[in-house]
Amino acid sequence: MYQIGTTLTQYIIEEQHTYEGASGHFTGLLNDIATACKKLSGLTRKGALVGVLGAASSENVQGEIQKKMDIISNDVFIEALENNGHVAALASEEMETVYNLKEGKRRGGYLVTFDPLDGSSNMDVNVSVGTIFSVVKAPKGVLNPTAEDFLLPGTKQVAAGYCLYGPSTIMVITTGRGVSMFTLDNSCGEFILTRDDVKIPEDTKEFAINTSNQRHWEAPIQRYIQECVAGKEGVRGKDFNMRWVASMVAEVHRILSRGGIFMYPLDEKMRKSGKEGKLRLLYEANPMSMVIEQAGGLASTGRERILEMQPYALHQRVPVVLGSKNEVQRVIDYHLL
Ligand code: AHG
Ligand code: MN
Ligand code: MN
Repeated sequence: MYQIGTTLTQYIIEEQHTYEGASGHFTGLLNDIATACKKLSGLTRKGALVGVLGAASSENVQGEIQKKMDIISNDVFIEALENNGHVAALASEEMETVYNLKEGKRRGGYLVTFDPLDGSSNMDVNVSVGTIFSVVKAPKGVLNPTAEDFLLPGTKQVAAGYCLYGPSTIMVITTGRGVSMFTLDNSCGEFILTRDDVKIPEDTKEFAINTSNQRHWEAPIQRYIQECVAGKEGVRGKDFNMRWVASMVAEVHRILSRGGIFMYPLDEKMRKSGKEGKLRLLYEANPMSMVIEQAGGLASTGRERILEMQPYALHQRVPVVLGSKNEVQRVIDYHLL
């Protein structure tokens, strides 16, 4: 446990001391990620004043029209991470293939995968957006890692987290020893520890799912949501509340703050179009699953633990059910029937 008020800089230096033989690169890398997030916090706050709203005239590899901020935030991340010798390569939602460092740049020991701007459709309506990141060790002695080198199960992540650009900017980090929450103090430009060893309540009365897809859902999800909506009069015997922010970062943050369950399940419409889910395994589901599990919650596809999945592609999608332990377990149980 760290003292509330500890700066992120102090925190990551202390964390480094807990690893024997640590070289300082991990510390440097987390600092670089924090720098990128601070820049994005500034840009998202300025919004229209600096011309970052609206669509760009391009599509990403998933066929989604990119927002200007999708491209800008991807560039901000690359710039912050490629110059300090801590990373070997990068991969992101906004880049079709692995980003290898330019010749002559110092290579480091980590691979970073990120969703530079999550919930980007919220940008133009001034609702919360975020950044998600995942860190694994790079293979030794490889100058230009390939996509295969990134295809590791989530259990191999050495750090993961997100930064939420909401009413305040909040960075949430796990290095596998619990979850810590930092709030950006703009007066000194530092992330300050405001909650440590965050734990998610095991029970909840709040669910998050895009109900416009209801007619396509599979039986276990239909049953679970019907029972929630039936409230006090139904088998659950209690009323539920519903939220949908359309930014996974904001949903996960709400769950860390007061419990809840978030679902983006596989449905028949996806199946018919050959999709395996909506959210991406390597830069959305895996890092968020690590955060959720480290906070005592569960993260599953409904059928298997997300963190144990062996990825086969950089932009692979997965069904996601995560949050308060007892609720997620119930959804898993419904899939077993
Ligand atoms: P992104 O903006 O990075 O593409 O991610 C958006 C994701 C996720 O954050 C959110 O939960 C979900 O897509 C929203 O989906 P709907 O458009 O179906 O609401
Ligand atoms: Mn996203
Ligand atoms: Mn995104």
